[in-house]
Amino acid sequence: MAIEVPFFGLKRESETLRSELLEGVAAVLDHGQVLQSREVLDFETSIAKMTGRKYATATGSCTDSLYFALLAAGVSRFDEVVVPAFSYIASASCILRIGATPVFVDVDINGNMDANKVSAVLSERTKALIYVHMYGHFDEQNLSLIKAQAEKFEVTIIEDCAQAFGSIGGVSGVPAGSLGSIACISFDPTKVISALGSGGVLLTDDENDAILSKKLRYHGKGPEGKFDLLGFNSQMPTITASALLIKLKYDEKWRVKRQKIAKIYIENLKRFPVRLPEVQKIETHNYHKFVINLDQREEALEWLLSSGIQAMVHYREPLPQHKIFDCCSPKNNEFERAQKLSHTCLSLPCHAFLSELEIDYVIEKMEEFFRL
Ligand SMILES: Cc1ncc(COP(=O)(O)O)c(C=O)c1O
Repeated sequence: MAIEVPFFGLKRESETLRSELLEGVAAVLDHGQVLQSREVLDFETSIAKMTGRKYATATGSCTDSLYFALLAAGVSRFDEVVVPAFSYIASASCILRIGATPVFVDVDINGNMDANKVSAVLSERTKALIYVHMYGHFDEQNLSLIKAQAEKFEVTIIEDCAQAFGSIGGVSGVPAGSLGSIACISFDPTKVISALGSGGVLLTDDENDAILSKKLRYHGKGPEGKFDLLGFNSQMPTITASALLIKLKYDEKWRVKRQKIAKIYIENLKRFPVRLPEVQKIETHNYHKFVINLDQREEALEWLLSSGIQAMVHYREPLPQHKIFDCCSPKNNEFERAQKLSHTCLSLPCHAFLSELEIDYVIEKMEEFFRL
């Protein structure tokens, strides 16, 4: 029997939370403070607490948060910013937006920046390093190694936690977003906690960075009401903050469910010639994405799609191959791992609203694929 297995659970999640979300929206309509409200402040307090950071600035997107993070790090034109060669475009486009130069580093087998390749690109010109927790995998040991190298050059570490909300370090158990000077999280509709639209946050322990990011998100306006620097308009609407406050309550439950699904996938797929996500403990990974690697990726993708399973590819090209980076990157045979991952990665549906039947169906279809 063919069934449809959606990649994202958002529609089902919204059905489940419908009355709670609508109540939240109604409350906002009633008080009428659609921006710069108590809900936004409450959201900032909650997310700072959950990630163990002192300050949170809610913004319009993680893309904007990353840009503000670079400005807070003092990055300007002609500086270099180190970034992995394999990620979503937003991890590196923020560097171009400043006029600085992205310096790409190849990734490890899990898609995170390769700690062994970092020292070769660090120099006096390096102002910041953007570390991405790919697919939600927070490899604490790896990031600590990179941090130690970057500190020698006084390079600011910015964690791109767009995908890693709720992941914890396998060494000390700290939440993703605790190790960098600044961390940015995304709440876009594809993420584990999603806004009713777009949303992001910037986290830091540095009061000056917090004040600056709050000025940047609203026209440079400071607490005293003066517009004393060139800012932007990247606010989080109250309705978004209200929805996020509701969804944060379910984060642990949904994460545990995704971890269970990951465990079932791993148990059942390990006898096939695929590379499975490697973590020391399932409980440390938020499984924002469950990504396998296999040589026959295109065939497997086509097979799953034709069977009604919405598999996807994250990502088809290493970052330096995108046209916007033509200006600044060497062309790119040297990013061997990023190339390999982009040809072999395949994301399977993994969200808290999958039924047992759907999980079994994905496994059954993968088994059939290998028997073909
Ligand atoms: C790794 C990474 N960085 C940054 C972003 C940008 O997030 P947003 O869509 O909230 O701007 C994303 C979103 O897809 C992402 O996956």
